Amino acid sequence: MGKTTTAVYLSLVLAAGGARVVLADADRQASALRWADEAGGLGESVLTVGATTPETLRGLRDLAAGAEVIIDTPPGDLRLVRAALARADVALIPVRPTMLDLDRLGETLDEVRNAAVPGVILLTQVRSRTRSLAGARSALDELGLPLLDTVIPAREAIAASFGDAADSEGFDTYRRALGELQAALTTTTEAP
Ligand SMILES: Nc1ncnc2c1ncn2[C@@H]1O[C@H](COP(=O)(O)OP(=O)(O)OP(=O)(O)O)[C@@H](O)[C@H]1O
Ligand SMILES: [Mg+2]
Repeated sequence: MGKTTTAVYLSLVLAAGGARVVLADADRQASALRWADEAGGLGESVLTVGATTPETLRGLRDLAAGAEVIIDTPPGDLRLVRAALARADVALIPVRPTMLDLDRLGETLDEVRNAAVPGVILLTQVRSRTRSLAGARSALDELGLPLLDTVIPAREAIAASFGDAADSEGFDTYRRALGELQAALTTTTEAP
């Protein structure tokens, strides 16, 4: 769905904005860790750590004091998803705009709702002007789910950036997505 790609790009965007970042990889497959390893690190400001148990996820609070924390969750491990949600301020849910992928969101959305964490959907691997995109937008709209206007395009350069620095178009788009997410959170927090 694009979770790992999103986690790595958002870490790079936050770091470029001057933040200290802890990128926690909660997936045993360790794709984010492997990405960072292959790249020789993700820069001075991004600390990548494995966090594949609920205990380690809980411990992040101390490790990451003063840092922005991005948690890359694994597919199909609700225990870890719950543990990640328990320490999250927001759940960003990347999904491809196909009916099949949207249909699979149910369980994730239930968890986010139960955790009472604001959930926001980010469409990724988007092919512009397709029927799938229009269909996905209206389906999400009907469900009343918050959706970022910014969508991440399907790009070979983004797929090929695994183990490497960010693709510049991908970086810019993720930067816009993050800006939009932060603005949405500020508005929500300030609302009476
Ligand atoms: N914007 C994009 N354009 C093209 N390919 C992409 C894009 N984002 C991700 N991909 C590719 O899609 C595949 C899945 O992406 P990714 O590994 O980030 O998803 P994931 O949700 O972490 O998957 P998993 O559930 O297996 O952990 C990868 O091959 C990745 O390179
Ligand atoms: Mg992944």
